Amino acid sequence: MFDTPSPDAPVRIETETAADAAAVEALVLAAFGPGRFAKTAERLRERASVVAGFVAREDGAIVGSVRLWAITIGEAQALFLGPIAVEAGNRRGGLGAELVDACLSHARAVDVAGVLLVGDAPYFERFGFRRAVDVSLPGPVDGRRLLWWGTADVSGIVRAGRK
Ligand SMILES: CC(C)(COP(=O)(O)OP(=O)(O)OC[C@H]1O[C@@H](n2cnc3c(N)ncnc32)[C@H](O)[C@@H]1OP(=O)(O)O)[C@@H](O)C(=O)NCCC(=O)NCCS
Repeated sequence: MFDTPSPDAPVRIETETAADAAAVEALVLAAFGPGRFAKTAERLRERASVVAGFVAREDGAIVGSVRLWAITIGEAQALFLGPIAVEAGNRRGGLGAELVDACLSHARAVDVAGVLLVGDAPYFERFGFRRAVDVSLPGPVDGRRLLWWGTADVSGIVRAGRK
C-alpha cells in the first residue's frame, strides 16, 4: 500500500566500483590492521591486477568487501581471493558467505581453473576450499592456510597476472 522504507534495509552485494576504493581500503585496514602489508599475500597483490571486487552495501555504506586478482599457478589461469572483510558490527549474519559466493560465481563464469587464497581453513572449508598442497607462493606462508577451490587440482609456483 505505502512504499515505506524498511527500518532494517537489506544489505546488498554489489560489484565494487572505482568510487568504492577508499571505503574498501578503510574497511580492510580496520579489519586487519597495518600488519597486513607485511604478508606474502600482499606482495602478490602488489604485482597482480584486480579482476573483480564485490562490496556489501547497507544504506549506501560499505560494510563488507572482497577482491579477486589475476594469477597463474604453474600453467593454469586462476584467481586469488582477498582480502575479505566484514565490518565488525555486521559479522555472523552471512555477509562473508555472500561475498565468497559472489567470488565463486564469478570464477564459474570466467575461464579459470579455480580460486586460491590464504586464510583460515575452518572458515573457508564450508565453501569447498581445501589445502593447496602442491602450490607455492613467492614468499613464506603457513601451508595450512593456503587453500584452493576448483574443478581440478593445480600445482606449481604462483605468479601475478596471466601467462
Ligand atoms: C572472516 C569474515 C569475513 C567473516 O564474515 P561474516 O560475515 O562474519 O561471515 P559469515 O556470517 O558468513 O560466517 C560467520 C561464521 O563464520 C565463523 N568464522 C568467522 N571467521 C572465522 C574464522 N577466521 N575461522 C573460523 N570460523 C570463522 C563465525 O564464527 C561464524 O560462525 P557461526 O555461523 O557458527 O556463528 C569476518 O569475520 C571478518 O571480516 N574478519 C576479520 C577479517 C579476516 O580475518 N578476514 C579473513 C579471514 S581468514
